[in-house]
Amino acid sequence: MNVCVIGTGYVGLVSGVCFSELGHQVYCVDHDSLKIDQLNEGISPIYEPGLQELMNKNRQAKRLIFTGDLQKAMADADAILIAVGTPANRDGSANLTFIKEVAIEIGQHIRPGMTIITKSTVPVGTNKKIKKWITLSCGHQQFSVASCPEFLREGSAIKDTLHMERAVFGVEDDLAESVLRALHEPIQTNIIVTTIETAETAKYAANAFLATKISFINEVANVCEGVGADVQSLAEIIGLDPRIGPSFLQAGVGYGGSCFPKDTQAFIRVAEDAGYDLQIVPAVEKVNAQQRQRLVQKLKTVYPGHYLREKRIAILGLAFKPNTDDMRASPAFEVVDFLQNEGATVIAYDPIASAQARRLMPELELALNWQEAVDQADALFVLTDWEEFKAIDLGELKRKMKKPVVIDGRNIFNPNHMKQMGFYYDSVGREIVDNRLSSLDGQLEYHSMPHRKAK
Ligand code: UDX
Repeated sequence: MNVCVIGTGYVGLVSGVCFSELGHQVYCVDHDSLKIDQLNEGISPIYEPGLQELMNKNRQAKRLIFTGDLQKAMADADAILIAVGTPANRDGSANLTFIKEVAIEIGQHIRPGMTIITKSTVPVGTNKKIKKWITLSCGHQQFSVASCPEFLREGSAIKDTLHMERAVFGVEDDLAESVLRALHEPIQTNIIVTTIETAETAKYAANAFLATKISFINEVANVCEGVGADVQSLAEIIGLDPRIGPSFLQAGVGYGGSCFPKDTQAFIRVAEDAGYDLQIVPAVEKVNAQQRQRLVQKLKTVYPGHYLREKRIAILGLAFKPNTDDMRASPAFEVVDFLQNEGATVIAYDPIASAQARRLMPELELALNWQEAVDQADALFVLTDWEEFKAIDLGELKRKMKKPVVIDGRNIFNPNHMKQMGFYYDSVGREIVDNRLSSLDGQLEYHSMPHRKAK
């Protein structure tokens, strides 16, 4: 098949690369000429494991072409995929400016029999609008539109695309269905053919449900802290019930990223427009925001009052999750802000996201490795569960830090190990390890917490 993908962001680039890998002839188009130049030099603008290699393999095979010329890219296309951004408006609704611009441009080059497939996450009813905008631009309706929502996760985007758990085809006619089937032909997966409205809503519902799971387990973790239970063990117990399932029950500092925060907001607006006032999703967002606050408050138990002013605080992890350099809606922003506002000196390290951080948080001091970040630190916050951090030598960590205080927003260390090593260790929904009187020579004031007294 001949495929044209419009937009070379996360979804567009991964889709283009994967569809070329499946044997289709793919043109990827973007207005951003610098990005197209970079892609033509074989450099991926995003960090995603395996993406650059697969991209260059298919570029060399001439199955994957990057261009700024939409007319050329669409010339022989059977399927045109829209994968441009839908950023949030001030009120949380999805901004459709790019989608509309693209629809009008498509209308200028469309030929009868083409199918326009929306990959971007868009409010319900958008595909109908796309049809209208293209029709107004080209003056006929001899084309189909379809919704094919994307469920890939950053960090495992290639696998999620080539081995997708399901493909959802929201279609208006047989032409669109047959084009989508041919496009996905080599992929063995569950195919669900449905209406455009159902496909559009399913994407929001899936992300809202996953975000709900995370906020739910975070609330349970907060209860665990009060009653002396362990959230990881609890998650294992409830996750073994197949009706609940084990995934997305990892308690921590809360979710970030380009999808959950934006899509939960947009879903609330979609529901409002449909005349329904969602109750659960706003609560999910509220819990997520509180979770960051709770984490930073944990440090105030160790250093009460205004003592952060003299403190050097290390942050490990700036990306919103491991295996990506993406910092969109990362918990790191709030945590760093809080610490800096309290007067602390903050020094951070992330294995991949440092370049992004230099751009997005120019005031933040960045270390070249974890050792440099924690050197002489009065406390350490873990904000991303990179494998590199899980493998940290605890002896070396303790020797480097001025005070062995670790606040772990991702539960990456074992409390028993931390206890043996003499750390003060507070994580999410688990026992506090408090060795202060012994390991810190009583230098720090002890503030007892009624329900979370260390064992
Ligand atoms: C998500 C969806 O998983 C994907 O299907 C959709 O297409 C886009 O949004 P992504 O944002 O890449 O993907 O990351 P994901 O792995 O889902 O994690 C999102 C956030 O939730 C991260 O900040 C992660 O740290 C957090 N998370 C995830 C938890 O806090 N606990 C968990 O148990 C799982």
